[in-house]
Amino acid sequence: MKKKNKVIAVQGFGYVGAVNAVNIAISKKFNNLKILCVEKKNLRTINIINQAKKGIFPHHSNDKNLIKNFKKLVQSRNFEFTFDKKKFKLADIILITINYDLKKIKKSKFSFLNGFKEVINNAKKNSLILIETTVPPGTCENLLKPILRRIEKKKKIRLFLSHAFERVTPGKNYLKSCRDTHRVYSGIDYKSKILCRNFLKKITNTKKYTITELENTTASETCKIIENSYRAVNIAFIDEWMKFCKEFNLNLFEIIDAIKKRNTHNNIMSPGLGVGGYCLTKDPIFGKISSNFFLKNKNISFPFSELALKVNKKMTGNSLNLIKEKFKKSLNNKKILIVGMAYKNDVGDLRNSPSLNLINQLKKLNPKLFFYDPLVSDQFKDIRKVEKINGFYDIVLLCVKHQSFKNFSFLKFNKMKKTIFFDSA
Ligand SMILES: NC(=O)c1ccc[n+]([C@@H]2O[C@H](COP(=O)([O-])OP(=O)(O)OC[C@H]3O[C@@H](n4cnc5c(N)ncnc54)[C@H](O)[C@@H]3O)[C@@H](O)[C@H]2O)c1
Repeated sequence: MKKKNKVIAVQGFGYVGAVNAVNIAISKKFNNLKILCVEKKNLRTINIINQAKKGIFPHHSNDKNLIKNFKKLVQSRNFEFTFDKKKFKLADIILITINYDLKKIKKSKFSFLNGFKEVINNAKKNSLILIETTVPPGTCENLLKPILRRIEKKKKIRLFLSHAFERVTPGKNYLKSCRDTHRVYSGIDYKSKILCRNFLKKITNTKKYTITELENTTASETCKIIENSYRAVNIAFIDEWMKFCKEFNLNLFEIIDAIKKRNTHNNIMSPGLGVGGYCLTKDPIFGKISSNFFLKNKNISFPFSELALKVNKKMTGNSLNLIKEKFKKSLNNKKILIVGMAYKNDVGDLRNSPSLNLINQLKKLNPKLFFYDPLVSDQFKDIRKVEKINGFYDIVLLCVKHQSFKNFSFLKFNKMKKTIFFDSA
């Protein structure tokens, strides 16, 4: 008799879900695997799914390996894309990789919960539901588990729930970062933990990377929030020294390099244009949200995390001030080229992009704005996309260093002899 296909469903085909689906599909540790990608239907996702069905990875990335693998997998027909939540009933494991936004937090909670209910209302008996979404600590235990237990009772079935946050790093090693990373997880009970561990073992490079179990899902959720808050604070910290070094005319980059020689200090951050992306701009506030939602304790405060978010948000203003200072004349009608619009190297993701933030501030000074970014296909009001860099610009701002910009010498363009360059990448 032919062995039945194992079905793994991924809810949310966004930056985390899509690459996860590929990482699972390429694992050699499954036999007869089928991947079901379930999205929420709207104009944006119809476009994403249409592209995916043609074998085009829908999130712009410089990871050639991911793009190649995705095309092959779609052709092999072991991938299915759907908006039909009833299909969750086919799955043995369901990964939840949907968003939990910071804006309108009550609405986010509601929409995340709705997503979870769509899963458990359709899940078949004994399936594992694995939350990869970054959530306020306490979510699995206090919010999801009671709902899950009610459904179990009503349908007279057993379900399993675990949390294993995602550490994927979009960029040129996007797919590899999914597999080559230490994983952390927990579950709401013993069996949920075991099932989660067995699954993670199949999709992680366990020869080099560890899989750590924490005591409960709140610990695993907290782990992710501390990790990202730490990074946000680390970035914010250097901002005050940047201002100090500027006044003293010191080269902060050289100073940081000297500090990094000590192993204990080698992850100190360098100053940059700002902090963008989806995670570091929201996760540091999840501790506070959790205290309010679950602990009902408004006395626990997170001064470092909150200050880090404030400082990081304002960081782009420092670069603007530098531009204004260096370019003593007014920026009115000056031609400014922004090189790199995405929030970081080698992605097309524009969420909270510091380049966009800078542009919004520049607009008030009335320059003529242009941008160059081969990974960004979006159109913007009042800023023209250029396909090549060959015209004259008064200012060129290098905001992000995609791979293709690395050996870029702007000076080779004759028309740029009088251009002022800013490298914030
Ligand atoms: N982007 C990253 O680099 C990264 C890294 C680590 C962790 N995370 C975390 O992973 C989670 C997902 O992040 P992302 O960047 O992939 O977000 P995203 O917005 O790119 O993707 C989420 C997707 O889920 C879909 N969705 C929402 N509700 C749904 C529903 N009910 N059913 C089906 N699909 C639904 C959305 O349409 C969207 O396409 C977040 O919690 C984020 O903080 C992100």
